[in-house]
Amino acid sequence: MIDFDFAKERFLAYTKQYDIDNGRIHLKVIHTFKVADLCQKIAEDLHFSSEDVQLAKLIGLLHDIGRFEQVRIYNTFKDSVSTDHAELGVKILFQDDFIRQFILNPSYDFIIQKAVSNHNKYQIEDGLDQRTLLFCQLIRDADKADIFRVICEDTFQNTCMSDISDPYSDTISDSIYADFMNEKSLHWTATRTPLDVVIAHLALIFDFNFQYGLRYINEKDFLPYIFQKVHCTDPFTNQRWTNIQEKVLNYLEKKLK
Ligand SMILES: [Fe+2]
Repeated sequence: MIDFDFAKERFLAYTKQYDIDNGRIHLKVIHTFKVADLCQKIAEDLHFSSEDVQLAKLIGLLHDIGRFEQVRIYNTFKDSVSTDHAELGVKILFQDDFIRQFILNPSYDFIIQKAVSNHNKYQIEDGLDQRTLLFCQLIRDADKADIFRVICEDTFQNTCMSDISDPYSDTISDSIYADFMNEKSLHWTATRTPLDVVIAHLALIFDFNFQYGLRYINEKDFLPYIFQKVHCTDPFTNQRWTNIQEKVLNYLEKKLK
């Protein structure tokens, strides 16, 4: 039996050791609870059993636990210049059995470990059983859906890991533009400019497994809000940015039909 409220109290106690006045820590606490809520909604939408809905929610609660140490040590969310926050999360949870602080029953450990580990990867690892794969897909959708909320509500500095406050007068790299227009998910390592990072976030839309997350993005009107945060002064970049907006809106419409 999974007791989410018990796990939530333990999670809040864990985060108390970090500086909540740090915008990045605050953002991740809010993100965690939003993702847990979305996990529940997606699991219900997929008609999971009540125990599996609780498991999905618990995975949402734990998926970014590595972020707090990442921010404390490196003060960045950029895995490429710090550490893979998902693997750090796995280490925190499973080294010394810290996971038992959140769930007494060890029978879900493998699924939780794989879901946390795979939540931020470009692709889910091969060879997983169907059930484990399903929870990996679910946390990835919930996480991505909330990332759209975060980039609407927060500053580009916090979300796009850029030193500038917004991508005014920016450029879009050729490879980022080409891959986006081909509806490919983008590698963070391929981003060269702050606007590339915004586009890589938008490209997350091409990697949803279930319809719920796309419906959520559509209903909350996140895309127009993100669009109006970006202002390109260079006409060539502006044309590319216009094409990107059309592409993402058409893609969403196509997927929601
Ligand atoms: Fe994450």
